Amino acid sequence: MKNNPTNPEKKLLLPPAGTVEVVPSILSADFAKLANEIAEVEAAGVKAVHLDIMDGHFVPNITFGPPIVKKLRKYSSLVFDTHLMISDPETYGPQFIEAGSNHISFHIEATDQPGKLIETFHSLGATAGVTINPETPIQAIEEIACLCDMILVMTVHPGFGGQSFMADTAKKIIRLREIVGPDIRIEVDGGIDANTAPIVVSYGADTLVAGNAVFSKPDREVAINAIKNSIK
Ligand code: DX5
Ligand code: ZN
Repeated sequence: MKNNPTNPEKKLLLPPAGTVEVVPSILSADFAKLANEIAEVEAAGVKAVHLDIMDGHFVPNITFGPPIVKKLRKYSSLVFDTHLMISDPETYGPQFIEAGSNHISFHIEATDQPGKLIETFHSLGATAGVTINPETPIQAIEEIACLCDMILVMTVHPGFGGQSFMADTAKKIIRLREIVGPDIRIEVDGGIDANTAPIVVSYGADTLVAGNAVFSKPDREVAINAIKNSIK
């Protein structure tokens, strides 16, 4: 991963950009046994889990907050890739880092100071990056793209798991990869499975969030391998 000057120690711990990683989203897991669900995908060999944080304001749904992350931290050594779908990342981002999140993704639509936020999260020991909604053009993040450790491109409207992949939106990844070059991770989130993974990887994504395609399946290892094998 790129040696970002404001985060020289590189604490994200995901492998360098370019290696494709499947990152299960626990949004589709059984919330009553989250630690076990995470342990299962950890045993299947993933390096990170995706934590979807929703506030009922930025998106019309509510999930969980820092206290749950803090509890989960005790049960897993995976990278906690934390996707803040919330209106006030300035206030709550640091609380998630304090609770054990390694990477923070915040929405460009939720802040007017993205560069400052990235710096703050780096100074607190996390890696950081922006997320863009389907209707937001790449131009909105062009200026700060290269400050990010990882950029998250939504291929569904945020708020719910199990939605259909938006094929046109995914094409934004092609331009984004041209802008950031090979050293910054591009993550894609929404409707990723063994059918859509090859498409986004061909566009330049290297970090594949998969909720429904992993946690709705009885054997998570088989489900993860199906996605991995689809891009070989
Ligand atoms: C949607 C979330 C996603 C969600 C993806 O708002 O950001 O991370 O879990 O779920 P799937 O993979 O089921 O589309
Ligand atoms: Zn997400």
